[in-house]
Amino acid sequence: MSNYHIKHLEEYYQVYRKSVRNPEAFWEEIAEEHFVWRKKWDSVLNWDFKKPEVKWFEGAQLNITENCIDRHLTTRGDKTAILFEPNNPKEEALHITYSQLHERVSKMANVLKEQGVKKGDRVCIYLPMIPELAVAVLACARIGAIHSVVFAGFSSNALSTRINDSDCKIVLTSDGSYRGAKTIDLKGIVDKALEDSPGVTSVLVVNRINSDINMKEGRDQWLQPLLDDAYGDCVPEIMNAEDPLFILYTSGSTGKPKGMVHTTAGYMVYTAYTFKNIFQYKEDDIYWCTADIGWITGHSYILYGPLANGATTVMFEGVPSYPDYGRFWEVVEKHKVNQFYTAPTAIRALAKENLEYVEKYDLSSLKVLGSVGEPINEEAWHWYNNNVGKKQSPIVDTWWQTETGGIMISPIPYVTPTTPTFATLPFIGIQPALMDENGKEIKDNQIDGRLCIKFPWPSIARTIWGNHERYRDTYFSAYENKYFTGDGAHRDAVGYYRITGRVDDVIIVSGHNLGTAPIEDAINEHPAIAESAIVGFPHDVKGNALYGYVILKETGEGRDRDNLKKEINQQITEHIGPIAKLDKIQFVSGLPKTRSGKIMRRILRKIASKETSNLGDTSTLLNPEVIKEIMENAF
Ligand code: WTA
Repeated sequence: MSNYHIKHLEEYYQVYRKSVRNPEAFWEEIAEEHFVWRKKWDSVLNWDFKKPEVKWFEGAQLNITENCIDRHLTTRGDKTAILFEPNNPKEEALHITYSQLHERVSKMANVLKEQGVKKGDRVCIYLPMIPELAVAVLACARIGAIHSVVFAGFSSNALSTRINDSDCKIVLTSDGSYRGAKTIDLKGIVDKALEDSPGVTSVLVVNRINSDINMKEGRDQWLQPLLDDAYGDCVPEIMNAEDPLFILYTSGSTGKPKGMVHTTAGYMVYTAYTFKNIFQYKEDDIYWCTADIGWITGHSYILYGPLANGATTVMFEGVPSYPDYGRFWEVVEKHKVNQFYTAPTAIRALAKENLEYVEKYDLSSLKVLGSVGEPINEEAWHWYNNNVGKKQSPIVDTWWQTETGGIMISPIPYVTPTTPTFATLPFIGIQPALMDENGKEIKDNQIDGRLCIKFPWPSIARTIWGNHERYRDTYFSAYENKYFTGDGAHRDAVGYYRITGRVDDVIIVSGHNLGTAPIEDAINEHPAIAESAIVGFPHDVKGNALYGYVILKETGEGRDRDNLKKEINQQITEHIGPIAKLDKIQFVSGLPKTRSGKIMRRILRKIASKETSNLGDTSTLLNPEVIKEIMENAF
């Protein structure tokens, strides 16, 4: 038997050693024993980080939905696969069993086929957290179409960019979405996006909020009647191990978003294996990850990982503050949730509210608490541990990325002793390295460095859609023969890792990755603005918030500053989405620049963070005099 389920620390170390000494034998055993294959692989791993190229289980054939759905039908047909909890607590929760999921996915798959979608085609999914989103994702996987889910909080502009980048011909959306007490006109956003995406010939619309929307003749159709007419079985497309499963966009520090491409077999094996161990999932558990399926956390740990294990996974449409700040805990009590996985930003927001919101509910079902998306600060960790877990549920602080596909550094609950703010130890098969400023690997402990991974793991993204060179430049050029994460980390005396944050120009705001360049581009399009620079500064709920330094054109000088600030945020909302709005905007006459014209963000960051006692070396600046002005007027 392979070591599929790790139960104590000795076993962790033993399995870890095995997984790094002979990765191929290790992963082969896991793959062999726990998944269904139409054809076994010819080779387990081929890789070359110089090219870069990574291939797992080459030659194997499978369909991931057979692993996530079909194989459970005989033993778990009536078990709830997806437990849908609507935005409005008065609306009844929906239990979708594995059998029902099979039928719903099959029907959706047949509808997509009727729309002309074929293996390898890209399908854009722009839906709120409703069952159709999960079903659409799985339906794509069923027929070998590549899903590209775009988070339904993104603007029309951001949506259009993503549709065009991966050349989607079809979009699945809804008339609107609920978000707490508000409704959002999703179809309106899609209509606007499609003005710039003429390649889209078909839009299928879910009726979620019963609103009166515009349907474009010949392009838009309501989805439900098509589903009603579709056949409830669909033969799965047989996929090669390395066929793309999905594209998911993530922000880069420069340029347009990167369409990370994940492939089929390795992604399945790794997400399933990590899910089983990091949440210690047992057959009758109810597991809840509060992320949106529009992010990687939702892909890997609401859908694929849990379903591959035959789990019951909760899908929550709402927000933590509606109808009040007790919503998360009300849902935990109501569904007797055993594993709860959320983001530090949510924890910090809830920790600010009255403790009664937590104490009112019976949380005794909880066994494991998870954290993801950004560093969890000590205060939030303790609040989570004391008030939600009642010091009985280990917290798994899981570090990973869209690019890594699955969790990379994390405690295994009831196995790894936890330490607040530490993601602790590398997961099985993961070989981290800390690098120093000269590009050398640091072997010591109790030290900071830049976090790299030395050896491929099964769910590493294989490329950036349409731009393999950018993939190489971004991840494999900083350090020879290593995947560079873009994060800094500290390794303590016992070898535990604490992630210290991004070392590039990506800023994590409320757990969302935002690149500075696209925000600056959006601002600079404003006719009154000459130039801008965005930096992050610490924020007690969002983790980081955005601070913008803006230079006006002469024509903008006479304008009302408050109005301009509103327009800047409006501009950002339209180009990217409300998540990228600036908390602080300062108008400046210049930006500190090096002699080669590069903005010295390091200085701007310090000013925004009020750490001005030591600005470091400013002697190389072209215009050191602007610093004084900026500091005098800073917030
Ligand atoms: C950050 C989310 C500290 C990190 C799964 C990473 C974290 C980026 C943690 C990826 C954590 C994620 N502790 N930082 N537990 N988890 N991050 O692509 O900077 O949305 O590089 O993937 O989030 O964000 P992404």
